[in-house]
Amino acid sequence: MKIFLDTANLESIKKFNDMGLLDGITTNPSLLSKEGGNPKDAMAEITKIIKGDVSLEVVSTEYSGMMEEGKRLREYGDNVIVKVPMTPDGLKACKSLSSEGIPVNVTLIFSPNQALLAAKSGAKYVSPFIGRLDDIGQDGMHLIKEIKEIFSNYNFGTKILVASIRHPIHVIDAAKIGADVVTLPPVVLDKMLQHPLTKIGLENFLTDWEKLKAVNPDIKI
Ligand code: G3P
Repeated sequence: MKIFLDTANLESIKKFNDMGLLDGITTNPSLLSKEGGNPKDAMAEITKIIKGDVSLEVVSTEYSGMMEEGKRLREYGDNVIVKVPMTPDGLKACKSLSSEGIPVNVTLIFSPNQALLAAKSGAKYVSPFIGRLDDIGQDGMHLIKEIKEIFSNYNFGTKILVASIRHPIHVIDAAKIGADVVTLPPVVLDKMLQHPLTKIGLENFLTDWEKLKAVNPDIKI
């Protein structure tokens, strides 16, 4: 399973990229807005740092605007995936951009039928938002199971990019289902790194090493 970071925060992107953890990045207008500053600088920097797929989202809601924006976004790099919303115009833009060799991520997917239609339109990725479904009392992970089954039945090449992830258990469940990608807020990836026994174990190793040093003052590893 690939791991993308769901952020426009350059510090977090550099931090996790330096650990070799990032296969890509997803952004959206809300994430860019959260960082402030000039979003064009952020998009240019992100596409430079990350070699894998970087999703950059259109803000037009009609076909011709999406096409123009999609092509402009693609100028940031060959690794740019144009993100379009799951609307009729979004699917039309998905078909046209995909036919021109520009890969598309169809976002704001909340049902198996929406995922099926986005795949038919040629999307490289579909982004089902599981946390937002959980938030309204629906089972977000069940949607991932259904999309996985449908895509497997027909050998669609479209990848399932699980979005709106809230906690590490979402990641484990998505991996068990066999989702292609999870896109994680930095706080979730931080939590995945940690375990209290790792912290305690390391403290014990260091305390024991200090005991050895007390009787071997010049010792070095
Ligand atoms: O890419 C954005 C998606 O992951 C939404 O996340 O937390 O705003 O529901 P959230």
